[in-house]
Amino acid sequence: MNDSPGFDIGKRAVGYAAVDDFVQDGMCIGLGTGTTTYWAIERVGQRVAAGERITAVATSEHTASLCRQWNIPLVGLLQHEMPVAIDGADEVAPDWALIKGGGGALFREKAVALVAERFVVVVTPSKLVSVLGAFPLPVEIVPFAEPYVVREISRWHPDVEIVRRGGDMPFVSDNGNWILDCRFGPIDEPRALDVALREIHGVVATGIFESIANVVMVGDENGEVRALPRI
Ligand code: A5P
Repeated sequence: MNDSPGFDIGKRAVGYAAVDDFVQDGMCIGLGTGTTTYWAIERVGQRVAAGERITAVATSEHTASLCRQWNIPLVGLLQHEMPVAIDGADEVAPDWALIKGGGGALFREKAVALVAERFVVVVTPSKLVSVLGAFPLPVEIVPFAEPYVVREISRWHPDVEIVRRGGDMPFVSDNGNWILDCRFGPIDEPRALDVALREIHGVVATGIFESIANVVMVGDENGEVRALPRI
């Protein structure tokens, strides 16, 4: 593989462990996007090379490309039952509410996570927080509606800092949309914020994943992996 994100022992350990613990021969699985999921994809690729019949729904074009490099057959959403999906996160709260979308793949990631019977989140300890919000919340928007979305968020939250990802060279999502990175400060009620943002015409999805994760696995710098209890 020549698309490695750089070696990180904790990310590799947790990516591998999630596949070893939850993926069985014959399954259709969801594969997330990012530098931690990279290692899960590698593990799946190794097992496909060994003869297992695993298929995948990719959450991004980048992940689809990695799957092709590993000869992991790709299928569409809901083409098969999906017992498990594996993905990273940018922040994980004690109740397993997440911020995702640092890689810009939030819309497809949420679609896959919602379809999967079990959504397994793989992170390193740096992603664990007491309250969401230090990481700016990615909000995917229809480009035409950007001025309206920014105005509505700013009216409602005058202090929020809103930055278009990529600035004058906007990052374009796999769905042809833009991402606004929004600093709301501590997010005490993630579900309410997600619902309110999605009521604004032009907002496609937010990076808040609340009550979606079923398992959170944490891989540390020693290569040890533990399950995070939900509080
Ligand atoms: C992609 O859009 C994101 O949701 C990633 O899953 C998230 O940013 C975690 O990525 P890393 O594993 O690279 O930190």
